[in-house]
Amino acid sequence: MARGATAGLLLLLLLAALLASASPAAAAEGRGRRVLRTKHSGAGYHYNHTLAHILVEYASAVYTSDLTSLFAWTCPRCKGHTKGFKVIEVIVDVENCLQAFVGVAPDPRSVIVAFRGTQEHSISNWIEDLFWKQLDVTYPGMPDAMVHHGFYSAYYNTTLRHEILKSIQWAWKTYGKLPINVVGHSMGGALASFCALDLSVKFGSQVVELMTFGQPRIGNPAFAAYFSAQVPRTIRVTHQNDIVPHLPPYYYYLGEWTYHHFAREVWLHVIIDGNLVTRNVTICDGSGEDPTCSRSVYGISVADHLEYYGVTLHADSRGTCQFVMGAANSVYSYVREVDGAIILSIYPQDPYALESM
Ligand SMILES: *[C@@H]1O[C@H](CO)[C@@H](O)[C@H](O)[C@H]1NC(C)=O
Ligand SMILES: *[C@@H]1O[C@H](CO)[C@@H](O)[C@H](O)[C@H]1NC(C)=O
Ligand SMILES: *[C@@H]1O[C@H](CO)[C@@H](O)[C@H](O)[C@H]1NC(C)=O
Repeated sequence: MARGATAGLLLLLLLAALLASASPAAAAEGRGRRVLRTKHSGAGYHYNHTLAHILVEYASAVYTSDLTSLFAWTCPRCKGHTKGFKVIEVIVDVENCLQAFVGVAPDPRSVIVAFRGTQEHSISNWIEDLFWKQLDVTYPGMPDAMVHHGFYSAYYNTTLRHEILKSIQWAWKTYGKLPINVVGHSMGGALASFCALDLSVKFGSQVVELMTFGQPRIGNPAFAAYFSAQVPRTIRVTHQNDIVPHLPPYYYYLGEWTYHHFAREVWLHVIIDGNLVTRNVTICDGSGEDPTCSRSVYGISVADHLEYYGVTLHADSRGTCQFVMGAANSVYSYVREVDGAIILSIYPQDPYALESM
């Protein structure tokens, strides 16, 4: 216990020191010689506070490890604003420790795609690893756009993408061509971003909205500009001193060789004036790296990472990729195992269906 606390403190001090040398907004903007290319195509899209309160609950529910209650939407986090949600498919990539679901929501009437954040190791190990992520793959079709291979392939090179596309098509066939809300927290936000980009390119920007909570940076400035043009209906929520949106670090002097966030950030924070504490929501500028938003603080808080809008955003038991599956699913559900992934769906997966329950 004491050793854990000491190690945690050392980690935070290390992170604080690195961040101090990496990305303080004041230093960057004070010298301000470099003007980053940014697109403001999202300018006509507005942050909707009510919508954020609803969508954060989906980003929380996807952490549920009891697949039966998640699928039936009876889990403890499957209440509140998400009542009446109909799950179409739950995908658990056991091998890569990923989880996502697709379903149809009553409000906003839309298809929801939600991605879980990391379950691997401890959260502080995962955060520490984020420091050293390289921009090591070129985004297809965009010669200057570079992204992190791990995040990229977690969406593109696993069972997730194929299953999500299939479920969306099934939902559209069954419920009509509803708009799509893609959500995710932490690493789930990184996967949600790649998914939203993929869906926008495939189906058009007008049907896709993205909202992420405490996501890390995923690409360089060229990628961020490309992303904003393709997915203009994007809100990237950050919370107070959450450490993850500060990672991997943004080094303004590295040009295209630095990570750079896309717009539009919405920064949740409190303002303390004497003994008056006010909650404030700042709608940030279209640059992706607004120096007056989360970059105005040294974000070193893990606690702020794990809670958005008062909603818990982590699993009940951390550090495992375990899941629980009962035998009591509805008669309309089908279970399939493919490439190290468990897939529960309300539609038959012929010809591969192993069993229907
Ligand atoms: C915000 O989202 C809520 C929930 O979907 C919706 O009812 C409301 O009409 C939206 N407000 C605006 C201004 O779009
Ligand atoms: C995709 O995944 C396969 C199997 O896990 C791996 O062999 C391959 O190198 C991966 N490709 C990329 C581009 O990540
Ligand atoms: C509070 O939020 C508003 C709306 O986004 C913003 O204009 C204002 O600058 C914020 N105040 C502070 C002190 O951050």
